[in-house]
Amino acid sequence: MTRRSKILGCGSYLPERVVTNAELTKTVDTSDEWIVERSGIRQRHIASDGQFTSDLALKAAERALEHASIKAENVDMVIVATTTPDNTFPATATKVQHNLGMTTGAAFDIQAVCSGFVFALSVADNMIKGGQADTIVVIGAETFSRILDWEDRGTCVLFGDGAGAVVLQASPDDVPNEDTITAQGILSTHIHSNGSSRDLLYVDGGPSSTQTVGHVRMVGREVFRHAVTNLANIVGETLDAHGLHSDDIDWLVPHQANKRILDSTARKLGISADRVVVTVDRHANTSAASIPLALDEAVKDGRIKRGDLVLMEAMGGGLTWGSGLVRW
Ligand code: ACO
Repeated sequence: MTRRSKILGCGSYLPERVVTNAELTKTVDTSDEWIVERSGIRQRHIASDGQFTSDLALKAAERALEHASIKAENVDMVIVATTTPDNTFPATATKVQHNLGMTTGAAFDIQAVCSGFVFALSVADNMIKGGQADTIVVIGAETFSRILDWEDRGTCVLFGDGAGAVVLQASPDDVPNEDTITAQGILSTHIHSNGSSRDLLYVDGGPSSTQTVGHVRMVGREVFRHAVTNLANIVGETLDAHGLHSDDIDWLVPHQANKRILDSTARKLGISADRVVVTVDRHANTSAASIPLALDEAVKDGRIKRGDLVLMEAMGGGLTWGSGLVRW
């Protein structure tokens, strides 16, 4: 029997400490006006000393499991999308698995930077469809503040820390073909990479190259240009795969890189601002965590309701980009 992945619940966690643009101006040569005008960001959450990516991921996963009414002992896979793992190895997901109290199943990390959550969702959906897992926790978690060069004002003002998670579960795909678009669950995922543009956004270190962690480096204008094009293309590809029009989408939940990228993508696609979930003003860019954080906010405040058609899209270093279309 064919199977479909349903999203049973979601959860998220933001570190307590909020750093406003005004506070940043005390240590960085910048201004609230510049940051708001260029990015839409007003504040970000920063993890405390000793608080790791796995700690953020664990809290988000626990909240998602509670929302889904699923016990950790019934989960058979934990996937963490992150660029800021606690250690080079083992996978951060193994620590989350252990801290959830799980003694069986599989846990591993996925690295696709800001596209990490949609890549992880794609892997999880295909694991469920292939029958390799029944219940999967997919987490996007980052302590991006740890890889920022706080002397590079072109990057350090743009990012923040946080985590978000969803719980997927297999259900029988017994819906007649003509009705698949109305059936609850993940309708499709789409992922792409282009390594020729990897120098536009990268970290200048790593175990094999420098034996250091390194810092984020970015050619901002070029990344902006690629983001608007790739994101419009991935949305088009997703809609075409189902014969849909942008009017059919109830909610766009984009990766929260920059308000200007969000606005340009929505404008290009003819999606009105009131159907776009925006958190970048309060969370900044939390990389792989940004989509599940935004999703959780819109689900919990009642904007996204059961039966809504939700489109998630992201682009990040690699370059990588992708989407996930879900009937909530
Ligand atoms: N505060 C004040 N001035 C600054 C700052 C800052 N924080 N950062 C840069 N500047 C200055 C520069 O030094 C430059 O000054 P100059 O003209 O005297 O040389 C001026 O502002 C313009 O710099 P640019 O880099 O050309 O500014 P731009 O208009 O391109 O905006 C930005 C920069 C916001 C990074 C923009 O390129 C952008 O949004 N890019 C997209 C990148 C992005 O969102 N990346 C996130 C990760 S990728 C992803 O998630 C999709």
